[in-house]
Amino acid sequence: MSDALLDVRGLTVHHGQLCAIDDVSFSLVEGEVLTMIGANGAGKSTLLRTIAGLHQPTSGSIEFNGVDIVKMRPHRRVNLGISLVPEGRRLFSSMTLEENLQVGGYRARKGAFTIDRVYELFDWMPQRRKQHVWQLSGGEQQAVAIGRALVANPKVLLLDELSLGLAPIIVERIYALVPEVVATGVSVLIVEQDVAQGVTVADRVHCLLEGRTSLTGVPADLTSEQIDHAYFGADLAKMAPRSEVGE
Ligand SMILES: Nc1ncnc2c1ncn2[C@@H]1O[C@H](COP(=O)(O)OP(=O)(O)OP(=O)(O)O)[C@@H](O)[C@H]1O
Ligand SMILES: [Mg+2]
Repeated sequence: MSDALLDVRGLTVHHGQLCAIDDVSFSLVEGEVLTMIGANGAGKSTLLRTIAGLHQPTSGSIEFNGVDIVKMRPHRRVNLGISLVPEGRRLFSSMTLEENLQVGGYRARKGAFTIDRVYELFDWMPQRRKQHVWQLSGGEQQAVAIGRALVANPKVLLLDELSLGLAPIIVERIYALVPEVVATGVSVLIVEQDVAQGVTVADRVHCLLEGRTSLTGVPADLTSEQIDHAYFGADLAKMAPRSEVGE
């Protein structure tokens, strides 16, 4: 048995006939940040949603703390300590900021994260807690989505495209929180199209290309050429703008 917190082996996931994830394996150890990068449609969201229990794989295993969770229902995975911040945030927009956090804390695991702790992390929130989510900016909504996942006191936080639709300065601010979250003992699996941003916070990088693993490694060991090749595929990489990683 490995000492991984999350251990994914030979995972294959189909949407109907389409193979979205093809024999993908990786592990996440405690206190680690692993970033999955990949272009549009590479299978990143499918992978995170499968770990959260929202898609059933065709084959492969997902172990959490040595227990196979592949058949476990989504809410039980949350109870075990796996929380997903979904792509597009999926907040309850007619509810207030605080009500959204309360939803995340419903039957939460015991741990360091309470709504008050989230308010310490995002110090602008207490004054805005009675506002409806639709009154918040995209970056603020992303922060609420992260806060909602944190109050469940996860061991593993799954973050799907934190940067989506946000201005670069806001993306930087959101990403600046990742080390703070890790410092509380949470391991983080990030999915990103924004390679530079995702790789900056990563201990390890895993690249998906059309559902398959195309590259894995430690950021310092990876060149921009390798990443472009793995991200776009051999043909498109020649035309692609150079990513800003490893320069
Ligand atoms: N519910 C679904 N039903 C059918 N096909 C789907 C479904 N969800 C995703 N797909 C398809 O599976 C493939 C992988 O999609 P997925 O959303 O996992 O990719 P992604 O890497 O998250 O892309 P993006 O960067 O655009 O979010 C794509 O071809 C997509 O069209
Ligand atoms: Mg996606």
